[in-house]
Amino acid sequence: MSASHLHLSPDPTRALAQLKAATDRCRECPIGEHATQSVFGEGPVHAALMVVGEQPGDQEDLRGRPFVGPAGKLFDRACADLGWPRDSIWVSNAVKHFKFELRGKRRIHKTPSQQEAAACLHWLESEIAQVRPRALVALGATAARALLGRPVAVMKERGQWHEGRRGERVLVTLHPSALLRGDPSQQHEAYAAWLADLALASDLALSMPRRGEHAPTSR
Ligand code: URA
Repeated sequence: MSASHLHLSPDPTRALAQLKAATDRCRECPIGEHATQSVFGEGPVHAALMVVGEQPGDQEDLRGRPFVGPAGKLFDRACADLGWPRDSIWVSNAVKHFKFELRGKRRIHKTPSQQEAAACLHWLESEIAQVRPRALVALGATAARALLGRPVAVMKERGQWHEGRRGERVLVTLHPSALLRGDPSQQHEAYAAWLADLALASDLALSMPRRGEHAPTSR
């Protein structure tokens, strides 16, 4: 079922819960069939800042929450270093199900194809329409392409505000997994540069949501 077929509640908290349930059932691309559940965004409804990653990883798939695995731990560290309360931010992903390849018993992350990301885009757009953030941060190329509507050279376009496909303000930076995979001798500098990119969104991360609502999470 696509978002346009849902009769969304006029209450954004309920509408987001409806969207979350609908993504769980979504089979518009093959990924959902093999995942445990969808991982929808979470945070305060009407957060000023929305952070968008690529897709849930293994731990996110099992727990049903975004950015709770190794990449999420690095994001948490950045939030702590920037003084951002993570629970002031809406945290989500461009693709709502975990795509993986089985190697023995291990589920190895596979990058979603452009068609899969495109099939999922309407869920992200519906989510943005409900949260109505003042700006978004795209973590990595999949999120940047979804939000800007064009291929994005992250290393060239990072640390700048761009205009999103619906006129949103979008800050592009690296995905935390890129830092985790990077050359260990460069990690300190790479992390400092990533923090400097993210710091451009500090005023938004520190803003209170327009209303004190929190969407229900599956915790
Ligand atoms: N990587 C992402 O892009 N999102 C998550 O939620 C976890 C890892």
